[in-house]
Amino acid sequence: MARHLITSALPYINGIKHLGNMVGSMLPADVYSRYLRQRGHEVLYICATDEHGTPAELAAKEQGIPVDEFCAQAHDAQKAVYDGFNLAFDYFGRSSSPQNHEITQEIARELKANGFIEERAIRQVYSNTDGRFLPDRYIIGTCPHCGYDKARGDQCENCTRVLDPTDLIDARSAISGSSDLEIRETKHLFLLQSVLAGEVEAWVDERAENWPVLASSIARKWLTEGLHDRAITRDLDWGVPVPADTWPDLAAEGKVFYVWFDAPIEYIGATKEWADQDPEHRDWRSWWWESEADVHYTQFMGKDNVPFHSVMFPATLLGTRAPWKKVDVIKAFNWLNYYGGKFSTSQRRGVFTHDALEILPADYWRYFMMANAPESDDSSFTWEHFTATVNKDLADTLGNFVNRVLSFSRKRFGDEVPEGSEPGEAEARLGEEIARLLAEYEEQMEAIQFRKAAAALRALWSAGNSYLEEKAPWLEIKTDKEGAALTLRTAMNLIHLYAVVSEPFIPASSAAMRAAFDLRDDTATWVTQEEATSLTTLTPGTPFTVPPVLFTKLTDEDLETYKERFGGEEQ
Ligand code: MF3
Ligand code: ZN
Repeated sequence: MARHLITSALPYINGIKHLGNMVGSMLPADVYSRYLRQRGHEVLYICATDEHGTPAELAAKEQGIPVDEFCAQAHDAQKAVYDGFNLAFDYFGRSSSPQNHEITQEIARELKANGFIEERAIRQVYSNTDGRFLPDRYIIGTCPHCGYDKARGDQCENCTRVLDPTDLIDARSAISGSSDLEIRETKHLFLLQSVLAGEVEAWVDERAENWPVLASSIARKWLTEGLHDRAITRDLDWGVPVPADTWPDLAAEGKVFYVWFDAPIEYIGATKEWADQDPEHRDWRSWWWESEADVHYTQFMGKDNVPFHSVMFPATLLGTRAPWKKVDVIKAFNWLNYYGGKFSTSQRRGVFTHDALEILPADYWRYFMMANAPESDDSSFTWEHFTATVNKDLADTLGNFVNRVLSFSRKRFGDEVPEGSEPGEAEARLGEEIARLLAEYEEQMEAIQFRKAAAALRALWSAGNSYLEEKAPWLEIKTDKEGAALTLRTAMNLIHLYAVVSEPFIPASSAAMRAAFDLRDDTATWVTQEEATSLTTLTPGTPFTVPPVLFTKLTDEDLETYKERFGGEEQ
């Protein structure tokens, strides 16, 4: 048994996320956390909303409410959706929490004390009309590379190039639209990443060997391009203030830390938020202080987030010279596309998480997304693929098996698990197959390879179907009643095994399968190789009920309705 700290990239506060967002961060982190908990490990799964920065300020302005109010509402709205998806966070915090403010400031002070933060004067766009500097997205204009006329100060959405606000042609304020702008000098804090580069490189060399290849290759590529010093403050109202005790001038000017500086620190901040709810029993430092405990730390994220997590956040933590726990394994994901094109929050293209839950229960989505996770490559969501997968894997292979076995047994043998004859050769073969597939499933889960793990899970479900076809209890019963009873008892043992091992992927359906059996103390959290081989855990005489249909088959009509509602054209 080990202690596992798990975090997923913090969803940005503005707007409900789409499926592409969830498949690369929160959902796989949840599946992995659930698996590790079931295997008896101590798990802490931490997530939070990422609340600072210009998008939050601008979204609040658009709605005409104060930014703190906007964030509080948006946090609750996102949390409700994640509850709907059965994401079992140990804590879902907020990067605007007092805890994060405090730790972010503490880390900045330590960096300064160690000589890794410097004040520098830089030239920035100032709006005379608005009476303020215009950082990042507060300034829009024409992209110097592609000519797109609504490029933002930090990045052009059209050609995705990273920009500096001073690059923009015909620049104007995103607040007032005014082009009465000038360049002014102002001081900002810079994190001297160039000085930390050698150390970070050594750290990545040592760690990244054990990372799945997508994350390690991005980290190495980033390092070859060189680590540059970067500005870690902004002229904004909403954010973690630069502490006045350390930088009185900048604090007086109202500078705050850049959102990408405080956001990853919220992994620590949220752990403290969690601990502060029950300080007698929870110790946040024991998860984050390297010297105190042996914690294994895994992070989940989309590939765009890898540079920040593999290089910049470690640089920040290394520079404090304090024993902050650093990530052991980064699991990164490619993009999930929508019909070959991008999911887009701004263009509302694709399937958004709250809409998904409105049409079908969470397990349909959880299974489909993980079985088709964009692990080795980008993958594409289509309604055709989705409905076909649901029908084949969930409705036909798993759901139908459960229903068929339980209703047939009930009809012929009543409301209790029948006994029947002693297991024979077919049961021995099945048991071996199940044990082998279970071992494969475990191996892939340990390796955090979700597609392969899902394939092994599907193979476990299929093995039950093959056994049932082979034994055909509905025929067997005519000549060998005891034999048919054995077949059904064995199949029911499979159902119970499916309930236990499918839980990381489809927790609600697993609970329904488990609840079919009236077991007095069903404390099984996992299945041993012996149990998988013998398939005799359920005592004959155990009462059971037939659960309602686990997965509804989706019709051609459903498919058309979905495509109509969400759009389904190839791009
Ligand atoms: N909010 C960022 C995004 O959506 C991710 C932040 S991860 C964190 O891309 F660790 F920095 F918080
Ligand atoms: Zn451009």
